[in-house]
Amino acid sequence: MEGRLQVFSGNSNIALAREITTHLHLNLGRALVGQFKNGETRVKIEENVRGSDVFVIQSMCAPVDHHLMELLIMIDALRRASARRITAVVPYYGYAKQEKKTTGREPITAKLVANLIATAGADRLLTMDLHAPAIEGFFDIPVDHLQAGPLLVDYMRDKHLSAPVVVSPDAGGVGRANRFRERLGASLAIIAKQRPEPDVSEVIEMVGDVEGKTAIIVDDMISTGGTLVEAARVLQERGARRVFACATHGIFAGAAFDQIADSPLEEIIVTNTIPLPPEAQAARIRTISVAALFAEAIMRIHKDLSLSTLFM
Ligand code: R5P
Repeated sequence: MEGRLQVFSGNSNIALAREITTHLHLNLGRALVGQFKNGETRVKIEENVRGSDVFVIQSMCAPVDHHLMELLIMIDALRRASARRITAVVPYYGYAKQEKKTTGREPITAKLVANLIATAGADRLLTMDLHAPAIEGFFDIPVDHLQAGPLLVDYMRDKHLSAPVVVSPDAGGVGRANRFRERLGASLAIIAKQRPEPDVSEVIEMVGDVEGKTAIIVDDMISTGGTLVEAARVLQERGARRVFACATHGIFAGAAFDQIADSPLEEIIVTNTIPLPPEAQAARIRTISVAALFAEAIMRIHKDLSLSTLFM
């Protein structure tokens, strides 16, 4: 790709953006991303981007709509400023749980968001652990889809846990848990859950032997923490000696930290796709950085090199 490499960030996760640019030996691009007094988002790109290969980093964490709007407006500003190519770098892609209709008269908001990003002017998307891999197909622009699994496995492997069993907390996560299990060298257990209403999780049954073992629950995201805490409770009831959890995106909505603090979970490992508030430390949460992986992906995209090795 011709043109300078420039990296900008919205306000959702500036710490991660700075870490990524440090790995790239670049300064974060100068941009004003604020608000007008009437509440509308105000953006001004404060350096020349004409002909550049530009990356805009923004996670869709809370306040989700505000951060999405910042991303769209930044892309629009960069396009109008004649950037040669714009890649939206979205470490956490929000609205991803609304990727299908579960009943009549519902939206498919994950698709709407994909349309918005492309319409704003993004030429590519770089993201991590989409809630449903099919979301990649909602985009008609190239999508590079990174996985945090290998980083999380490395962290767990270093603990040398005895008799590890990887647990999928729902049927939809079995593939992810199985990949984790294969890398770690562990057995597998699967929990079937139901949601009697949005944001409420109930365990129906568990398949697999966890008696006397170290259970590692693997999920893509922790939102209210309900799925995790319910799974941990069942694992303890079924005789698991220790319970850990690994997830890529730590949203921790509502009373998640309180629920987790009262649970049998010994340690929860998430990545920094979403910044954590200080309360996270009291809730036994450990963060692993994905900055080096994103930096490598950005450099490879910029140089038109294959990203396949990053997916292994
Ligand atoms: C569900 O399909 C996801 O993989 C997660 O298990 C879920 O989003 C977690 O949500 P919560 O923490 O609110 O139970």
